[in-house]
Amino acid sequence: MTRAALVVANWKMNMTATQAAEFAARLRPLLAPVANELATGQLEIAVAPPFPALERLGRALAGSGVVLAAQDVHEAESGAFTGEVARAMLDDLDCRYVLIGHSERRQHFGDDEARVVAKLERVLTAATSGLRAILCVGETLAEREAGRLTSVLARQLSGPLALIQRLRAAGTIAPEARLALAYEPVWAIGTGRVATPEIAQAAHAEIRRILVERLGSAGAGVRILYGGSVKASNAKALLAENDIDGALVGGASLDPTEFAEIVACRRPFRMESVS
Ligand code: PGA
Repeated sequence: MTRAALVVANWKMNMTATQAAEFAARLRPLLAPVANELATGQLEIAVAPPFPALERLGRALAGSGVVLAAQDVHEAESGAFTGEVARAMLDDLDCRYVLIGHSERRQHFGDDEARVVAKLERVLTAATSGLRAILCVGETLAEREAGRLTSVLARQLSGPLALIQRLRAAGTIAPEARLALAYEPVWAIGTGRVATPEIAQAAHAEIRRILVERLGSAGAGVRILYGGSVKASNAKALLAENDIDGALVGGASLDPTEFAEIVACRRPFRMESVS
């Protein structure tokens, strides 16, 4: 098993469908240097636009190797949930990834831990779906300053990893292969205050330790992305760290040139290792 680098643009509530198509047209030629890695699966790039732009962006990216991601999904299969989006709708648009438990969802939209696990279960149990989850975790500034990083990560991972163990026990083959994690310290999101590579690596190593403790060797194959004020100027140092397998990029991903520069900082294809 290996861990291919994964770089994801999270546009949040920015970009119309028209702007998304323009972005794709500008991004495509900038990805020529990584075309081979994209084609061979050594590198993955995903863009998560707002829902209304998914279809147009998907068409504009067709054949580029860049895949679609959604920013959220509802935990129910379908039904009377006005304003919500179901997994099958994302499948229908060929979404490859969906963010789950982003801190802005946890903070403003009631995505508590039970809901995060329910959403994850909706994604991981769909036998016919190619959709994969990017589960976001991370501590607030108050939690970090109180020395609670380890306990916060353990708590946020507890329900999701119990779900994976339950699915495996029930016969689902390798549900963890459809999971990536994103460590996003809340104090670094949209603040310009990026975690130093050392701080980020320490948190990633702790997440890796928990993954391996709970999932055994399969935990070593789960990718862990860093998110929080990633820019072209700091991406290289972050992505050079042992347990940082990619980036989840917010603000800096709105500019195709800067996003392509961040992609260019990808770390080499990595054989799974427990560090
Ligand atoms: P940022 O956002 O890069 O703008 O800090 C990252 C995220 O929230 O995913």
